[in-house]
Amino acid sequence: METIVSGMRPTGRLHLGHWHGALKNWVRLQQEYRCFFFVADWHALTTDYASPQGIQHSTLEMVMDWLSVGLDPNRCVIFRQSRVKEHAELHLLLSMITPVPWLERNPTYKEQLRELEGKDLSTYGFLGYPVLQAADIIMYKAHKVPVGVDQAPHVELSREIVRRFNQIYRPIFPEPEVLLTDTPKVPGLDGRKMSKSYGNAVLLSDSPEGIDQKLSRMMTDPARVTRKDPGEPEKCPAFQLHKIYCTPDEIDFVSKGCRTAGIGCLECKKVMIKHVIKELEPFREKRAKYEKQPSEVEDVLAAGNRTAQQRASDTMGEVRAAVGL
Ligand code: TRP
Ligand code: SF4
Repeated sequence: METIVSGMRPTGRLHLGHWHGALKNWVRLQQEYRCFFFVADWHALTTDYASPQGIQHSTLEMVMDWLSVGLDPNRCVIFRQSRVKEHAELHLLLSMITPVPWLERNPTYKEQLRELEGKDLSTYGFLGYPVLQAADIIMYKAHKVPVGVDQAPHVELSREIVRRFNQIYRPIFPEPEVLLTDTPKVPGLDGRKMSKSYGNAVLLSDSPEGIDQKLSRMMTDPARVTRKDPGEPEKCPAFQLHKIYCTPDEIDFVSKGCRTAGIGCLECKKVMIKHVIKELEPFREKRAKYEKQPSEVEDVLAAGNRTAQQRASDTMGEVRAAVGL
């Protein structure tokens, strides 16, 4: 069985974008691969080192969502990066062989420097972000890394670091491949990308009433100023959700209704909203159980940390020998 590694920064409660963009895929992959899924809490520190207060809480909230949507601790290893210190040691050893220009030319790095202008990111740790990520990945000798396109350069860099390590010392690590899956784009309520920081997200843990309220207000084709104005579904952010959730007949019905001003936007959205509510219902039920028993989440993490740590310790034995320490 091939091995898969992926991580998420602890952002607290997850939303529909996380579900369609990553989690749904993870749930499927755990059937076919040996999977390691972890909370990248050290990575969170690279940008939020000055305000780390929320990380602990966000970690538990996020893992609660992972479990609620169907990640199964019997099928995958769920752990927390900072609890497996071997990641730090491997990061250090990889940093010895990683040329700084490889890091400086990383497009995701340059973009983030620009975007997060309010934060001082001229730190050593932030530059080394992908080296830490490489350590996360190769620690478990991952063959594949399911991530979004924005993360592809990081995985590419991991491959380069692996090649260099294998060549300088001994070939211990397989070159990890990006596993890009075709995931639907999930627009937020205001039409921009769904994101917690934009305040435009439907959370996986929202109540049916909450989901209904949020999506009923979701942005539509601006051409439909009044009920009488026809619209164009392709210009409507809400319709992107119809495409994910509705049956072909429903799509047909609302598209025609939109273009002929035969239906109103609210009626149109209700067709989609009922599917969203139905999909999230079982997640919420499962989450309610964990909310009553949060120690179960901590137990899952504790067990995952132990398993990951054992594997990491085996790898580090080989690594130390190869490096000659
Ligand atoms: N950088 C990833 C993100 O921001 C999180 C991450 C850290 C990761 N280490 C990883 C993803 C290893 C995949 C593999 O989303
Ligand atoms: Fe969007 Fe439906 Fe309104 Fe058309 S009718 S603009 S598809 S919500």
